[in-house]
Amino acid sequence: MANVTMDKIVSLCKRRGFIFQSSEIYGGQGGAWDYGPLGVELKNNIKRAWWRANVLERPDMVGLDAAILMNPRVWEASGHVGHFADPMVDCRACKHRFRAEDIGDTCPDCGAKGSFTEARMFNLMFKTFVGPVEEEAATTYLRPETAQGIFVNFANVLTAMRRKLPFGIAQVGKAFRNEITPGNFTFRSREFEQMEIEFFVKPGDDEGWHQRWIQERLDWYTGLGIDAAHLRLRIHGQEELSHYSKGTTDIDYLFPMGWSELEGIANRTDFDLKQHTQFSGEPLTYFDEETKEHIVPYVIEPSAGADRATLAFLLDAYREEEAPTGSGGTETRVLLRLHKDLAPVKVAVLPLSRNEKLLPTGQEVYDLLRKGLRDRMVQYDDAQSIGRRYRRQDETGTPFCVTVDFDTLEDRAVTIRERDSMAQERVAIEELVVALRERLEE
Ligand code: GAP
Repeated sequence: MANVTMDKIVSLCKRRGFIFQSSEIYGGQGGAWDYGPLGVELKNNIKRAWWRANVLERPDMVGLDAAILMNPRVWEASGHVGHFADPMVDCRACKHRFRAEDIGDTCPDCGAKGSFTEARMFNLMFKTFVGPVEEEAATTYLRPETAQGIFVNFANVLTAMRRKLPFGIAQVGKAFRNEITPGNFTFRSREFEQMEIEFFVKPGDDEGWHQRWIQERLDWYTGLGIDAAHLRLRIHGQEELSHYSKGTTDIDYLFPMGWSELEGIANRTDFDLKQHTQFSGEPLTYFDEETKEHIVPYVIEPSAGADRATLAFLLDAYREEEAPTGSGGTETRVLLRLHKDLAPVKVAVLPLSRNEKLLPTGQEVYDLLRKGLRDRMVQYDDAQSIGRRYRRQDETGTPFCVTVDFDTLEDRAVTIRERDSMAQERVAIEELVVALRERLEE
């Protein structure tokens, strides 16, 4: 069972500044979402954790940031102009359009039975025009995957970085798909971010590397706190494989709407490099020093969605727990048990009250931590009761709260409260930065 309903997460995301509907004051823009002040921190932390694990901590990977707009021939070579389409049907009664695979015999919008047209293929790429004239010659596409930016730079990276096989190129960036039915919050959007790796190996080594990457990627999610029982591997059937794939395994997450794809790990063979060699006339090969031959590497592609990962981490972290109140009773406390590396705010500084004697020390501690915990978000909050402020921080996943009270004025010490256990510990202000750094890096 998923931890929480989608409605609860959508509401928390809006209320606490994680995710807003795009262009909301104009009635919204279907399939597009805006990340608010806490959402942008969470998503950046996820992308940073992915980059750290897959680029900085590995000797066999390098990074790239390619342009979204590419020469339109790229998309002919990649097969996206010809094959990147979903079968779509229209309801003759209400005129609404659906992905054929999402519906049965009855229209989910108007209830009409047997009203669907024959399925037609609908290309998912967004067309746009480059330059001042809107004509066929100026047409290109917003990239539907970041992967092609890596393939067309294969030779550049190989030459510049003097790499030996096996090695990989990683990229994080926006992708666009004109999805027929966006939905389930950010799960299926028209504008989204991918975190993709193209890992180049010698032909013959591909199947072993495919299995290694499946395990690596599964471990990445569980290492950052996703419950292993909420993840599963699903191997694509032959009929389901993308046009470039010899074999694909999805990592599915148990979303509130059921098991759905979080990440796909495909064996793209030598398909893309060969296609680009053929279409561009530039040889995209690797000189094998052992055999003294030019070979076309095979490619293993772990392709994750940053938005789907953000949604999965939020859903999995959500808890409702009974907690004692100050007056001896209990109340329900909502908390996000986010991994410390992912939590948007790492530390909140909370003076016990707005008493004017406490505020200067509260500000002093806030200034100290903002500078001392560089690159980590610190928040200051003195509005409402301390209990309510703890709850607010719990609900956004802040791992540590630092409380400044009247004793602080005497002993120059503050209380650190830990989110999950609610355990409290007294620490001298002088030692606070080191104490928090240790706890955040533990
Ligand atoms: N380069 C391979 C590729 O793009 P994909 O399975 O179509 O493969 C990879 O996409 C990942 O991108 C998915 O597992 C998902 O996390 C994310 N993704 C794909 N379409 C998406 C959409 N419409 N909205 C949000 N994320 C999406």
